[in-house]
Amino acid sequence: MQQDVNDIIYFDKDADISLIQSKKVAIIGYGNQGRAQALNLKDSGVKVRIGLRKKSKSLKKAQIEGFKCQDIESVVEWGDLICCLVPDQYMADIYTNNIKPFLSARKTLLFSHGYNIHYKLIKPNSDCNVIMVAPSGPGYAVRKKYKEEKGVPTLIAVDQDATSDALDIALSYSKAIGGTRACAFKSTFKEETETDLFGEQVILTGSFPRMIKESFKVLLEDGYSPVVAWFVCFYEVKNIVDLFSDKGIDDMFKMVSETAEYGGQTRADRLIDDDVANEMKEILNEIKSGEFHREWMLEAEKGMPVLDQYREPNQTEQLFNELTKVLLPKIKK
Ligand SMILES: NC(=O)c1ccc[n+]([C@@H]2O[C@H](COP(=O)([O-])OP(=O)(O)OC[C@H]3O[C@@H](n4cnc5c(N)ncnc54)[C@H](OP(=O)(O)O)[C@@H]3O)[C@@H](O)[C@H]2O)c1
Repeated sequence: MQQDVNDIIYFDKDADISLIQSKKVAIIGYGNQGRAQALNLKDSGVKVRIGLRKKSKSLKKAQIEGFKCQDIESVVEWGDLICCLVPDQYMADIYTNNIKPFLSARKTLLFSHGYNIHYKLIKPNSDCNVIMVAPSGPGYAVRKKYKEEKGVPTLIAVDQDATSDALDIALSYSKAIGGTRACAFKSTFKEETETDLFGEQVILTGSFPRMIKESFKVLLEDGYSPVVAWFVCFYEVKNIVDLFSDKGIDDMFKMVSETAEYGGQTRADRLIDDDVANEMKEILNEIKSGEFHREWMLEAEKGMPVLDQYREPNQTEQLFNELTKVLLPKIKK
């Protein structure tokens, strides 16, 4: 076990930052990840330019924050590293129209999620490197931690190694965005894509937020105060997540009351039963077979009709959102 961990985990000492400092980095997109990674790279002494579409909403912001911005085609011609940091559902079109025709041999294509490579929406020429540096956290955390002289762990992977140093480039890039300050761990495009989608769907943006909203609704329907329900079902989540993130789940159970431990363990058996476990397996199968990918691409093509429905809050959600808006700024940190 110890051996396996050491084989795939890297830290600052394992990465040579001068490698990325000697290259020109073209960041395509200035959104969640693009902005955070670009700012961290710049602060780490790396030459960065931003590639944006015509009439981009982010142009002014990127310029104010000190970047030279160009159209995507020009920045692809300029850069040694081309970082594709635009939404996954539009990435293949952008690659085909604005990147591929301007990409020369021995350059490096970098992704922060394996989706487009794994599902073969993008098939790069074999004469360039294809690497992934995927922070395990949102862009705002990537920037915030970097400024605190810390970092967000990054998953790194190499799909094509045309220059025989693709892994070193990925490690160097990870170091420059603060990743190896925490750690970088090695994986593959397939493993990252499938497990990332699974984690989102089953835990992070799937059952977690839904459990919070459903439990809030149950308390409201039974006549409890919305404010108390909000604290119990939503606000306390952060404290327990912080606890088990810092200490592990086993130690978390040692640090809550035995009433909480007993009640939680026995009721979780009822909530997360075999049906739920089987549904998780089904969700994983849909990801592995490409069924989810096809569904999601169709949704994007149609202009997100299903997602738009979910974005329309029902009555309980409206109340929950209002409470969040009022209470969060009031609570002293
Ligand atoms: N969200 C996260 O924190 C996170 C975490 C880990 C990995 N990732 C991965 O990082 C990558 C980027 O995700 P993101 O969340 O950072 O994306 P994002 O914030 O949605 O990206 C926004 C940027 O993409 C540009 N863009 C959008 N559609 C475009 C189009 N059709 N043509 C050209 N440019 C377009 C936007 O242009 P305008 O400026 O003109 O609007 C903007 O600059 C994805 O592969 C994602 O899976 C994201």
